[in-house]
Amino acid sequence: MSRFAQIISSARYVPEKVVTNEDLTKLMDTSDEWIRSRTGIKERHVVTDENTSDLCVIVAEQLLSKSGILAEQLDFILVATMSPDYTSPSVACQVQGLIGAKNAMAFDISAACSGFVYGVSIAEKFIRTGSSYGLVIGGETLSKLLNWEDRSTAVLFGDGAAGVLLEASETPSIQKEKIAADGTRNQALTAGFHENNSPFYGEKSESSYCLSMVGRDIFDFALRDVVANIKEVVGDELDSIDYFLLHQANERIIEKISKKLKVPREKFLTNMDRYGNTSAASIPILFDEAVETGKIQLGSKQKVVFTGYGGGLTWGSILLTL
Ligand code: ACO
Repeated sequence: MSRFAQIISSARYVPEKVVTNEDLTKLMDTSDEWIRSRTGIKERHVVTDENTSDLCVIVAEQLLSKSGILAEQLDFILVATMSPDYTSPSVACQVQGLIGAKNAMAFDISAACSGFVYGVSIAEKFIRTGSSYGLVIGGETLSKLLNWEDRSTAVLFGDGAAGVLLEASETPSIQKEKIAADGTRNQALTAGFHENNSPFYGEKSESSYCLSMVGRDIFDFALRDVVANIKEVVGDELDSIDYFLLHQANERIIEKISKKLKVPREKFLTNMDRYGNTSAASIPILFDEAVETGKIQLGSKQKVVFTGYGGGLTWGSILLTL
């Protein structure tokens, strides 16, 4: 029997607290008008007492209950995150322990905002080689990585988690993919630098724990490399795609990509107005909302494209038939 990865359920969870652009004007020199017109973001969810693993456990439990699969049936749990609770244990191992998925291997994927796309790609290889069920979750608490006095980054990001449960199927779902990285441009976005405080270490680094980004470079990268990547994966099939689910960083980037590809803007789903940039969680949050509203139906044979891009630099697209 051929084995292909099929998405059979999706789920999301965002923390309760909503921080509006107006709220941010009380913390820094910014305005609702600037944030909305430059990014499309109106508000974001921010944790008050939860960590990344807490968000991911809720998503994992929802995925199991929606699909009727038991935790013991899972063969793998992959969590894409750039804001884990710890360097070790991984968030994936924390989730594995808390939901009782005793037969699942578990590890985190560090590919910033491309992490979910990397995760789905890896999951499909595990399923091809014998796994039957697995979770891919993108989960972030970026609020802990932000410098809340830096208006150029603090207004852009939000917290949240979402994911999918995949099962082995005889019908191919992933039609094509191209996942990429360029480490020579790694300084365009950095976050979470760990200072070495060993008594034997003499150097002081200028790198920071807080997220730092050369916004313009990432903007240009999205319009050049990401557009080329989508074209490579979708080829002549652009017109036949039902929906494009791109990483939710900036409304203007999506508008420009839709123009460059000559694909109607309506085919690009967006929700960054309500969540901001949730990094690895952004594509699965968008996907789960579309499933909930019926725009996207699992098992419908609709064609969708997942496209992630971000720190690393990393990027990639996957074309799926649902
Ligand atoms: N409020 C008010 N003014 C601001 C703010 C703010 N929050 N932030 C910056 N400004 C000011 C700047 O100081 C600057 O002022 P100056 O001209 O007096 O110096 C002016 O606004 C313009 O700043 P720019 O940085 O040039 O603004 P730009 O139009 O490039 O927009 C943005 C910035 C929104 C970050 C844009 O570059 C962008 O979206 N880049 C892509 C980001 C992205 O896609 N990230 C995804 C990857 S994230 C990941 O992997 C985790």
